[in-house]
Amino acid sequence: MQRQQPIGIFDSGVGGLSIGLAIRGSLASENLVYFADLAFAPYGIKSTQVINQRCEYIVDFLLQQGCKAIVIACNTATVNSINNLRAKFSVPIIGVEPGIKPAAEQSKTRVIGILATEQTLQSDSFAQLTARFSQQVEILSVACPKFVTLVESLKHNTDEAVTVVEQYINPLLAAGCDQIILGCTHFSFLRSSIEKVIGTDVDIIDTATAVALQLEHRLNQQGLQNLTKAKGEEKFWTSAQGDEVVESIASLWGDEIRLSTV
Ligand code: DGL
Repeated sequence: MQRQQPIGIFDSGVGGLSIGLAIRGSLASENLVYFADLAFAPYGIKSTQVINQRCEYIVDFLLQQGCKAIVIACNTATVNSINNLRAKFSVPIIGVEPGIKPAAEQSKTRVIGILATEQTLQSDSFAQLTARFSQQVEILSVACPKFVTLVESLKHNTDEAVTVVEQYINPLLAAGCDQIILGCTHFSFLRSSIEKVIGTDVDIIDTATAVALQLEHRLNQQGLQNLTKAKGEEKFWTSAQGDEVVESIASLWGDEIRLSTV
Protein backbone atom coordinates (compact mmCIF):
# COMPACT_ATOMS: atom_id res chain seq x y z
CA MET A 1 0.00 0.00 0.00
CA GLN A 2 1.35 3.45 -0.96
CA ARG A 3 0.79 6.65 1.03
CA GLN A 4 -0.45 8.58 -2.02
CA GLN A 5 -3.28 6.11 -2.68
CA PRO A 6 -6.72 7.65 -2.08
CA ILE A 7 -9.13 7.24 0.79
CA GLY A 8 -12.51 5.81 -0.24
CA ILE A 9 -15.59 7.41 1.34
CA PHE A 10 -19.17 6.33 0.71
CA ASP A 11 -22.79 6.97 1.64
CA SER A 12 -26.22 6.33 0.13
CA GLY A 13 -26.08 9.86 -1.26
CA VAL A 14 -24.74 13.31 -0.46
CA GLY A 15 -24.92 13.09 3.35
CA GLY A 16 -21.47 11.55 3.69
CA LEU A 17 -20.01 14.71 2.17
CA SER A 18 -20.25 16.13 5.71
CA ILE A 19 -17.67 13.53 6.74
CA GLY A 20 -15.73 14.12 3.50
CA LEU A 21 -15.50 17.83 4.33
CA ALA A 22 -14.25 17.07 7.85
CA ILE A 23 -11.61 14.76 6.35
CA ARG A 24 -10.61 17.37 3.76
CA GLY A 25 -10.35 19.93 6.60
CA SER A 26 -7.91 17.88 8.67
CA LEU A 27 -6.12 15.79 6.01
CA ALA A 28 -5.54 18.36 3.25
CA SER A 29 -3.03 16.36 1.22
CA GLU A 30 -5.00 13.11 1.06
CA ASN A 31 -6.55 12.09 -2.26
CA LEU A 32 -10.23 11.25 -1.84
CA VAL A 33 -12.67 9.11 -3.81
CA TYR A 34 -16.32 9.63 -2.82
CA PHE A 35 -19.10 7.23 -3.84
CA ALA A 36 -22.77 8.32 -3.59
CA ASP A 37 -25.02 5.27 -4.00
CA LEU A 38 -27.96 7.33 -5.25
CA ALA A 39 -29.52 4.57 -7.35
CA PHE A 40 -30.15 2.70 -4.07
CA ALA A 41 -30.88 5.66 -1.76
CA PRO A 42 -32.24 6.06 0.82
CA TYR A 43 -30.64 3.28 2.88
CA GLY A 44 -32.78 4.21 5.88
CA ILE A 45 -35.73 2.14 4.67
CA LYS A 46 -33.81 -0.73 3.04
CA SER A 47 -33.33 -4.21 4.49
CA THR A 48 -30.06 -5.20 6.14
CA GLN A 49 -29.52 -7.68 3.30
CA VAL A 50 -29.71 -4.97 0.61
CA ILE A 51 -27.49 -2.61 2.63
CA ASN A 52 -24.91 -5.38 3.11
CA GLN A 53 -24.89 -6.18 -0.61
CA ARG A 54 -24.49 -2.53 -1.59
CA CYS A 55 -21.72 -1.95 0.96
CA GLU A 56 -19.76 -4.98 -0.27
CA TYR A 57 -20.15 -3.87 -3.89
CA ILE A 58 -19.02 -0.30 -3.10
CA VAL A 59 -16.01 -1.28 -0.98
CA ASP A 60 -14.92 -3.68 -3.70
CA PHE A 61 -15.32 -0.88 -6.27
CA LEU A 62 -13.35 1.62 -4.14
CA LEU A 63 -10.54 -0.90 -3.68
CA GLN A 64 -10.43 -1.31 -7.47
CA GLN A 65 -9.91 2.47 -7.61
CA GLY A 66 -6.80 1.89 -5.46
CA CYS A 67 -8.13 3.09 -2.09
CA LYS A 68 -5.86 2.44 0.91
CA ALA A 69 -8.60 2.91 3.55
CA ILE A 70 -12.39 3.09 3.58
CA VAL A 71 -14.66 5.46 5.49
CA ILE A 72 -18.30 4.40 5.78
CA ALA A 73 -19.76 7.92 5.88
CA CYS A 74 -23.21 6.62 6.77
CA ASN A 75 -24.56 5.64 10.18
CA THR A 76 -27.11 3.27 8.63
CA ALA A 77 -24.45 1.40 6.66
CA THR A 78 -22.08 1.36 9.64
CA VAL A 79 -24.49 -0.15 12.15
CA ASN A 80 -25.67 -2.75 9.64
CA SER A 81 -22.54 -3.70 7.74
CA ILE A 82 -19.22 -2.68 9.33
CA ASN A 83 -18.58 -6.07 10.97
CA ASN A 84 -19.30 -7.88 7.73
CA LEU A 85 -17.06 -5.52 5.74
CA ARG A 86 -14.18 -5.81 8.22
CA ALA A 87 -14.43 -9.60 8.01
CA LYS A 88 -14.26 -9.51 4.19
CA PHE A 89 -11.72 -6.77 3.45
CA SER A 90 -8.30 -6.26 5.00
CA VAL A 91 -7.86 -2.46 4.53
CA PRO A 92 -8.62 -0.14 7.49
CA ILE A 93 -12.40 0.50 7.60
CA ILE A 94 -13.66 3.40 9.70
CA GLY A 95 -17.36 3.90 10.39
CA VAL A 96 -19.62 6.52 11.95
CA GLU A 97 -21.99 5.96 14.86
CA PRO A 98 -24.36 8.28 16.70
CA GLY A 99 -22.50 10.21 19.42
CA ILE A 100 -24.44 8.87 22.39
CA LYS A 101 -21.36 8.76 24.64
CA PRO A 102 -20.47 12.48 24.41
CA ALA A 103 -24.16 13.41 24.69
CA ALA A 104 -24.63 11.28 27.83
CA GLU A 105 -21.49 12.78 29.39
CA GLN A 106 -22.53 16.37 28.64
CA SER A 107 -26.24 16.21 29.47
CA LYS A 108 -27.39 18.14 32.53
CA THR A 109 -31.08 17.27 32.19
CA ARG A 110 -30.21 13.55 31.82
CA VAL A 111 -32.45 13.39 28.75
CA ILE A 112 -30.88 13.14 25.28
CA GLY A 113 -32.45 12.94 21.84
CA ILE A 114 -31.22 11.13 18.79
CA LEU A 115 -32.22 11.80 15.19
CA ALA A 116 -31.45 8.98 12.74
CA THR A 117 -32.88 6.77 10.01
CA GLU A 118 -35.45 4.08 10.78
CA GLN A 119 -32.92 1.37 9.89
CA THR A 120 -30.30 2.75 12.29
CA LEU A 121 -32.80 2.96 15.14
CA GLN A 122 -34.00 -0.61 14.56
CA SER A 123 -30.52 -2.16 14.31
CA ASP A 124 -28.98 -4.49 16.90
CA SER A 125 -25.86 -2.31 17.07
CA PHE A 126 -27.97 0.68 18.03
CA ALA A 127 -29.74 -1.35 20.74
CA GLN A 128 -26.34 -2.37 22.13
CA LEU A 129 -25.06 1.19 21.99
CA THR A 130 -28.06 2.64 23.84
CA ALA A 131 -28.01 -0.18 26.43
CA ARG A 132 -24.55 1.00 27.54
CA PHE A 133 -25.92 4.42 28.52
CA SER A 134 -29.54 3.72 29.49
CA GLN A 135 -28.72 3.74 33.24
CA GLN A 136 -27.07 7.12 32.90
CA VAL A 137 -29.58 9.03 30.72
CA GLU A 138 -33.00 8.72 29.17
CA ILE A 139 -32.51 8.25 25.41
CA LEU A 140 -35.31 9.39 23.10
CA SER A 141 -35.12 8.66 19.39
CA VAL A 142 -36.86 9.99 16.29
CA ALA A 143 -36.64 8.62 12.73
CA CYS A 144 -36.34 11.61 10.36
CA PRO A 145 -36.76 10.42 6.74
CA LYS A 146 -37.81 13.89 5.56
CA PHE A 147 -34.42 15.29 6.57
CA VAL A 148 -32.68 13.06 4.01
CA THR A 149 -35.01 14.26 1.24
CA LEU A 150 -34.50 17.92 2.21
CA VAL A 151 -30.73 17.61 1.96
CA GLU A 152 -30.77 15.57 -1.27
CA SER A 153 -32.97 18.26 -2.87
CA LEU A 154 -30.78 21.09 -1.48
CA LYS A 155 -33.67 22.48 0.59
CA HIS A 156 -31.85 22.17 3.92
CA ASN A 157 -31.60 25.93 4.48
CA THR A 158 -35.23 26.84 3.69
CA ASP A 159 -38.30 27.76 5.75
CA GLU A 160 -39.70 24.36 4.77
CA ALA A 161 -36.70 22.72 6.45
CA VAL A 162 -37.26 24.72 9.67
CA THR A 163 -40.91 23.56 9.73
CA VAL A 164 -39.86 19.92 9.36
CA VAL A 165 -37.19 20.36 12.04
CA GLU A 166 -39.87 21.71 14.39
CA GLN A 167 -42.07 18.66 13.77
CA TYR A 168 -39.29 16.24 14.67
CA ILE A 169 -37.53 18.16 17.43
CA ASN A 170 -40.25 20.00 19.39
CA PRO A 171 -41.38 16.78 21.14
CA LEU A 172 -37.76 16.16 22.20
CA LEU A 173 -37.42 19.69 23.58
CA ALA A 174 -40.74 19.33 25.40
CA ALA A 175 -39.39 16.13 27.02
CA GLY A 176 -36.37 18.05 28.36
CA CYS A 177 -33.60 17.00 25.94
CA ASP A 178 -30.53 19.21 26.20
CA GLN A 179 -28.46 17.22 23.67
CA ILE A 180 -29.55 16.52 20.08
CA ILE A 181 -27.47 13.83 18.40
CA LEU A 182 -27.18 13.86 14.61
CA GLY A 183 -27.29 10.11 13.94
CA CYS A 184 -27.28 10.39 10.15
CA THR A 185 -24.61 12.11 8.10
CA HIS A 186 -27.17 13.98 5.98
CA PHE A 187 -28.35 15.84 9.09
CA SER A 188 -25.10 17.81 9.48
CA PHE A 189 -26.23 19.94 6.55
CA LEU A 190 -29.39 20.89 8.50
CA ARG A 191 -27.38 22.31 11.39
CA SER A 192 -28.38 25.94 10.82
CA SER A 193 -32.09 25.02 10.46
CA ILE A 194 -31.84 22.93 13.65
CA GLU A 195 -30.12 25.77 15.51
CA LYS A 196 -33.05 28.06 14.66
CA VAL A 197 -35.38 25.67 16.47
CA ILE A 198 -33.35 24.56 19.50
CA GLY A 199 -31.95 27.90 20.67
CA THR A 200 -28.75 28.21 22.67
CA ASP A 201 -29.39 25.94 25.69
CA VAL A 202 -29.35 22.72 23.68
CA ASP A 203 -26.19 21.20 22.14
CA ILE A 204 -25.91 19.49 18.77
CA ILE A 205 -23.68 16.40 18.76
CA ASP A 206 -22.10 15.63 15.38
CA THR A 207 -19.41 12.95 15.03
CA ALA A 208 -17.94 14.07 11.64
CA THR A 209 -14.78 15.57 13.17
CA ALA A 210 -14.29 12.53 15.42
CA VAL A 211 -14.42 10.26 12.35
CA ALA A 212 -11.77 12.37 10.58
CA LEU A 213 -9.56 12.17 13.71
CA GLN A 214 -10.03 8.42 13.95
CA LEU A 215 -9.10 8.06 10.27
CA GLU A 216 -5.94 10.15 10.82
CA HIS A 217 -5.02 7.97 13.80
CA ARG A 218 -5.48 4.73 11.80
CA LEU A 219 -3.47 6.06 8.84
CA ASN A 220 -0.63 7.12 11.17
CA GLN A 221 -0.71 3.81 12.98
CA GLN A 222 -0.32 1.92 9.70
CA GLY A 223 2.21 4.33 8.12
CA LEU A 224 -0.32 5.26 5.42
CA GLN A 225 -0.70 9.03 5.86
CA ASN A 226 0.14 11.03 2.73
CA LEU A 227 3.06 13.23 3.76
CA THR A 228 3.30 15.42 0.64
CA LYS A 229 2.61 19.15 0.94
CA ALA A 230 0.49 19.29 -2.24
CA LYS A 231 -3.29 19.62 -1.87
CA GLY A 232 -5.05 16.30 -2.40
CA GLU A 233 -7.50 15.69 -5.24
CA GLU A 234 -11.09 14.51 -5.14
CA LYS A 235 -12.96 12.24 -7.48
CA PHE A 236 -16.68 11.56 -7.16
CA TRP A 237 -18.64 8.51 -8.30
CA THR A 238 -22.34 7.79 -8.26
CA SER A 239 -24.58 4.87 -9.19
CA ALA A 240 -27.27 7.26 -10.55
CA GLN A 241 -27.52 9.37 -13.72
CA GLY A 242 -28.48 13.02 -13.92
CA ASP A 243 -27.18 16.59 -13.96
CA GLU A 244 -28.87 17.33 -10.63
CA VAL A 245 -26.45 14.90 -8.96
CA VAL A 246 -23.47 17.02 -10.05
CA GLU A 247 -25.28 20.12 -8.83
CA SER A 248 -26.10 18.66 -5.38
CA ILE A 249 -22.61 17.31 -4.77
CA ALA A 250 -20.87 20.48 -6.02
CA SER A 251 -23.15 22.69 -3.95
CA LEU A 252 -22.58 20.79 -0.68
CA TRP A 253 -18.87 20.24 -1.37
CA GLY A 254 -18.51 23.97 -2.13
CA ASP A 255 -16.39 23.53 -5.24
CA GLU A 256 -16.47 22.28 -8.81
CA ILE A 257 -16.32 18.50 -8.98
CA ARG A 258 -15.46 15.65 -11.35
CA LEU A 259 -18.30 13.09 -11.28
CA SER A 260 -18.45 9.71 -13.02
CA THR A 261 -21.31 7.23 -13.08
CA VAL A 262 -20.84 3.51 -12.57
N1 DGL B 1 -26.62 9.33 5.44
C1 DGL B 1 -27.03 8.07 5.88
C2 DGL B 1 -26.85 7.83 7.38
O1 DGL B 1 -25.95 8.36 7.94
C3 DGL B 1 -28.26 7.42 5.34
C4 DGL B 1 -29.42 8.20 4.85
C5 DGL B 1 -30.34 7.30 4.04
O2 DGL B 1 -29.91 6.89 2.96
O3 DGL B 1 -31.44 6.98 4.50
O4 DGL B 1 -27.55 7.14 8.01
